Amino acid sequence: MARATALGIAVEKLVRAIKTRNPEAERKCLEVMAVAAERLGDAESAQKIRAISTAIASLSPMEVWRPADPPVASTQATSMAASELVLPKATAERIETIVEDLRIASKFLAAKLDAPTRILFVGPPGVGKTLAARSIAERLGLPLLVADLEQVIEQYMGQTGKNIGKLFEEAQKAPTVLMLDEVDALASNRGEAPKDDIGEAKRVTATLIGRLDGAPVEQIIIAATNVPHVVDPAILRRFPTQVTFELPVEEMRRAMVQKWLSALSLEQREVDELIERSKGFSGAMLRAEAMALGRAHIRRKWIEQETRSEST
Ligand SMILES: Nc1ncnc2c1ncn2[C@@H]1O[C@H](COP(=O)(O)OP(=O)(O)O)[C@@H](O)[C@H]1O
Ligand SMILES: [Mg+2]
Repeated sequence: MARATALGIAVEKLVRAIKTRNPEAERKCLEVMAVAAERLGDAESAQKIRAISTAIASLSPMEVWRPADPPVASTQATSMAASELVLPKATAERIETIVEDLRIASKFLAAKLDAPTRILFVGPPGVGKTLAARSIAERLGLPLLVADLEQVIEQYMGQTGKNIGKLFEEAQKAPTVLMLDEVDALASNRGEAPKDDIGEAKRVTATLIGRLDGAPVEQIIIAATNVPHVVDPAILRRFPTQVTFELPVEEMRRAMVQKWLSALSLEQREVDELIERSKGFSGAMLRAEAMALGRAHIRRKWIEQETRSEST
């Protein structure tokens, strides 16, 4: 029974490792499974499992953070994210002020004032937090390094702290905007973690705080979360500039849909209907619906054309 449980845990951990694209954790789980198979007297399965492990090891190492799109050379006209972003006026102005302040950050620092280089984005999933970070980075002419903390977190002792270290080192190689996405993952992990992992979660939080304090004040860091109340207050305190994102109200949804479907000659009724039924949708959900509507429109037109050309 104990063996079956060990195997079960390993399988579950393997699923998580695959989901978080963590080859090292995958290999560890596979090794546990191979040992379990051996103990059950199934040497052949153990060998097969180890073969998978070797195959994974030979793949090129997967990075735990994903550098975003390459930096744009110019900050103005070529900026894509900035022109894509649709936000309520107050939020847009808030971001505008942050960008302007970051452009003259050195002046603030010279006057011994804080520059708004540590920013917390709060809001539900899919409302444009990452897009806004891209927009800020683009407008400053800096690359954006997005780290999903959920992915940085290792299920095994010891690795997460190292990953965080690597991340900050990467960010400091050249001027970048560093985005710590899902910064709550550290905290929520603490709640769920088995007892002996709590010490680890605390250490990881301490590592992050240490890295945040150790990073140069010029380093722009944007943390994002949809559950700020579960984030360690010590981490929150290090992000004094906060921007709140909300689900798009009707006017914003209309502006988004018009932006996305501007190339099509949709009937007003169709657009109205989409705006109406997308109440409570995030921008990301709305986009999916708008794309479906747009494709249906093109499909319809194409079929009409085909039938016309067939009948002539
Ligand atoms: N406010 C918005 N303005 C324009 N597009 C948006 C907005 N919010 C979401 N979207 C669309 O949804 C996608 C995902 O949004 P994202 O910025 O990743 O959300 P978050 O980071 O808040 O989860 C964006 O790339 C964009 O296509
Ligand atoms: Mg995001």
